[in-house]
Amino acid sequence: MERTLIIVKPDAVQRGLTGEIIKRFEARGLKIIGLKLLQVDRALAEKHYDVHRERPFFAALVEYITSAPVVVMALEGSDAIAAARATIGATTPSEAAPGSIRGDLGLEIGRNLVHGSDSVENGELEVANFFSAGELLSGWARAVDGWVFEYQTP
Ligand code: RTP
Ligand code: MG
Repeated sequence: MERTLIIVKPDAVQRGLTGEIIKRFEARGLKIIGLKLLQVDRALAEKHYDVHRERPFFAALVEYITSAPVVVMALEGSDAIAAARATIGATTPSEAAPGSIRGDLGLEIGRNLVHGSDSVENGELEVANFFSAGELLSGWARAVDGWVFEYQTP
C-alpha cells in the first residue's frame, strides 16, 4: 500500500470546495488515515516546496500556501500516488482533463486547488512532515476493503 499527502489548498478551502475534493478521493477508494485543518507556516511551506526553491515562482508559491487555512489528508491505497495524481489532474488547471479536480474546478496554475505527492518516497516524507505518528490511523479496516482491494487489505 502506498501513502500520499493531499493538501486542499487555501483557494479550495476559501471557495467552499473542501467537501467536494475529499469526496472524490473517498469515492476513488483511497482510505483516509489522517485528516486535519491547519494554517501552514513559512518553515513548513519552504520545507514542503524545497525542490522549487530556486524557481522564479517560489516566493509566490510560499505566499499562496501560507495565506489561509488548508485541509491536509494522508491517504492510503494500492497505487495511491498515481491514482491521486490522476484524480487531481494536470498542474495547469486550464489544461487539466475534465473529470479531474483541477479540470473541473480551476483555471490558473497559481490557484490549482490541491496538492498530491509525486512519488512513493515523497508520499512517505510529506505525510511525516505534516502528521505526527499519533495523528495517523494506518491499520483501520473498512467494511468495503475487500470490495476495493482484490488481494491486499491494509
Ligand atoms: P503540487 O506539487 O502542488 O501537487 O502540484 P504539481 O505536482 O502538479 O506541480 P509542481 O510542479 O510540483 O509545482 C508545485 C506548485 O507550484 C506552483 N507552480 N507555479 N507559476 C508557475 O509557473 C508555477 N509552476 C508551479 C503550482 O501551485 C504547483 O501546484
Ligand atoms: Mg508537485
